[in-house]
Amino acid sequence: MRIALGVTGGVAAYKAAELARRLQQESFEVEVVMTRGAGEFIRPLTFAAITGNKVITGMFGAPEAGPANVESAIEHIAVAQRIDLLLIAPATADILAKLAAGIADDFLTTLYLATKAPVVIAPAMNVNMWEHAATQENLGRLRARGVRVVDPDEGYLACGMTGAGRLAGHESILAAVRATLNPRRDLEDETVLVTAGPTCEDIDPVRFLTNRSSGRMGYALAEAALARGASVVLVSGPTALTPPARAQFVAVRSAEDMSRAVHKHLDPATIVVMAAAVADYRPAMQHPHKVKRGTPHQTLDLEMTPDILTETGRHKKNRIVVGFAAETERLADHARRKLKAKPVDLIVANDVTKRGAGFDVDTNVVSFFARDGAERDLPRLTKREVADQIFDEVLRLKSTFKKAHGRANAGQA
Ligand code: CTP
Repeated sequence: MRIALGVTGGVAAYKAAELARRLQQESFEVEVVMTRGAGEFIRPLTFAAITGNKVITGMFGAPEAGPANVESAIEHIAVAQRIDLLLIAPATADILAKLAAGIADDFLTTLYLATKAPVVIAPAMNVNMWEHAATQENLGRLRARGVRVVDPDEGYLACGMTGAGRLAGHESILAAVRATLNPRRDLEDETVLVTAGPTCEDIDPVRFLTNRSSGRMGYALAEAALARGASVVLVSGPTALTPPARAQFVAVRSAEDMSRAVHKHLDPATIVVMAAAVADYRPAMQHPHKVKRGTPHQTLDLEMTPDILTETGRHKKNRIVVGFAAETERLADHARRKLKAKPVDLIVANDVTKRGAGFDVDTNVVSFFARDGAERDLPRLTKREVADQIFDEVLRLKSTFKKAHGRANAGQA
């Protein structure tokens, strides 16, 4: 298997040398493509010595190689065709922006457009650059196109700041490379219905009640299910995220809309995962015009919204239904109670007050409470990793229920 390792100009470029060695040890043929910026941090000779291959440093060959020739001018097409995967590590904010916009002004960006091979990127940058809306939007666009992103770690950064932005560890990057080259297709026979994001309950034409859900957990579930071969319907409240291109996307606003959309798409679903943070109450009446300032006290009269999870569970049939429990205290008690009260097979509980869990972060810390009594605390993982663990648990429950069903039928015979 042949990998093009794109190295861009950040302090973490030196780590790419060790990464190239590890890939080489795993029997990958590695061809390194350096951007001009990368050359400021590390010499091509290091990579050439590690990989035993020529290092590509520019669009038209290195200047010392003499005038550009036809061979070097079309080299990017040749590389694009012969590689099985393009890995960019470290990926700077600049390269993310170029890839997202489809700019092709050097060898690496041209290679990205020219190749049909899967792409994995491992960003590394200053925490503020990482968190900037522009960077996050670019990442969203790349993810929606199927690019696998290995999120950076948190910690001490070269710029002296602390936070997210350190290049992910070699093990995480290698795991993403392996998973991309040998994707599990164990959800090929499944249709997965995912709910995501918050709901918005209108008070009047300009005001509404909502919550802090970003939708990231639900979108990660949709991406993981697609990668494992499932057909996916993503029913989502308003979020800032780009939906995965291959999902059937249904945009909704209120709990009522979400309930209707879920019922409409329920029939073919074999797995339902309700990651949406649905409003439990909505204004009892919506004012047709903007409510004016005037009365010293205003009371908002609220009524209950439909409990979509419970309604779905009533028409459960053989499908596996997963609910979430977002809690701020006594996590296990609340989760066990929800498992009993709602017709669900698995409750994924998270304490949203914990660091690295809950809203607006890329990671989550969850516990599983399954219908067959199994309980498990997971470590802090990226939302994509949590999504994969949820589907592993769903498949485990499916086979457990199938076996129990088989035994019951044999008992009756
Ligand atoms: N849910 C739903 N419909 C609602 C409220 C919640 O389908 N009207 C789903 C959520 O998508 C989630 C699960 O129910 O999967 C649990 O949501 P949560 O708000 O934590 O629990 P509630 O049942 O509303 O209980 P409580 O408010 O007591 O925590």
